Amino acid sequence: MSIITNIEDLRVLAEKRVPRMFYDYADSGSWTESTYKANESDFKGIKFRQRVAVDMSNRNTNSKMIGEPVKMPVAIAPTGSTGMQFADGEILAAQAAKKFGIPFSLSTMSICSIETVAKSLNYHPFWFQLYVLKDRKFVENLIDRAKEAKCSALILTLDLQIIGQRHKDVKNGLSAPPKLTFPNIINMMTKPKWCMNMLKTKNRQFGNIVGHVKGVEDMSSLAEWTSKQFDPTLNWNDVEWIKKKWGGKLILKGIQDIDDAQIAVDVGADALIVSNHGGRQLDGAESSIKSLPNIINKVGSKIEVHMDGGIRSGQDVLKALALGAKGTYIGRSFLYGLGALGENGVTKALEIIHKELDLTMAFCGKTSISQVNKEILLSNSF
Ligand code: GLV
Repeated sequence: MSIITNIEDLRVLAEKRVPRMFYDYADSGSWTESTYKANESDFKGIKFRQRVAVDMSNRNTNSKMIGEPVKMPVAIAPTGSTGMQFADGEILAAQAAKKFGIPFSLSTMSICSIETVAKSLNYHPFWFQLYVLKDRKFVENLIDRAKEAKCSALILTLDLQIIGQRHKDVKNGLSAPPKLTFPNIINMMTKPKWCMNMLKTKNRQFGNIVGHVKGVEDMSSLAEWTSKQFDPTLNWNDVEWIKKKWGGKLILKGIQDIDDAQIAVDVGADALIVSNHGGRQLDGAESSIKSLPNIINKVGSKIEVHMDGGIRSGQDVLKALALGAKGTYIGRSFLYGLGALGENGVTKALEIIHKELDLTMAFCGKTSISQVNKEILLSNSF
């Protein structure tokens, strides 16, 4: 295997090692994928100011996200079906995040259950992402389970009451576990390590859901299942109800518009995440990095603003911080590492991003995250 030096190397390896339907699930956006692509490409137009002859010793990337100390302001994003990229994927990614010193967030649609992850981390705090299902008793119960698991923040996703169409998932007949159809068997035969690891674990279904929601034993098609179970009536009144029920730190995910950002402030959330769900929901929405400056202008002094979408390097992280984000999240960047090499791959992804962040900050003449602001960017490039 050649030497891995960047996130793209991990992506290429993951594409080889992960069964097609799960690789495609991670690496796709809705409809034409224009927002998915813009999330990445819009970072490229933003340029740094190179500064020289500054004392670069004693650098560090330490910071805080919602008051929690982090080794760098990068959290693992909540991603669905993570345990299908690599057996026990959520446990492995959470371990890597814990060892590195950054937050791990677990999706409602995880394969390993919240209890399994909590136990494997020895109840070290992590963040839990909540989807609101029609069965409100289940939602209340899930919030209690997150408290029980010592989660230190709840991330409420607001941009997926209905699911965007991702063509590849429809064509691949995405399901977890995969249906043993002829094309799936043929494809899985080319991924022997994935299969062996998957045979060794019991975590092969949506662990937070199967056995907890009445009548859900088989989730068959993910898109069909979400359209039956997710609550399309979700609205801001529900956010207040969830905030009260949870009682802890609340992060609202999926904000792209300045008016919604203001409502997030008004409901008293602790942070918001500028996000278009990795370009997986509203295709044609603006990229996250382009939406960020307006949201910072409007609410940056009233609420902690985070962002996700398109981060494939530490340079992207630095650009988001320079434009005012106090934290960032990586989804695909860690999933590629996980699919490629399990826990070591996630650690590798974090090391790559950390090194790129640290060196770029230094090349811009800064030695700590608290010094980073718009001044490190060429003002005509954003
Ligand atoms: C779920 O979170 C998805 O984007 O598929």
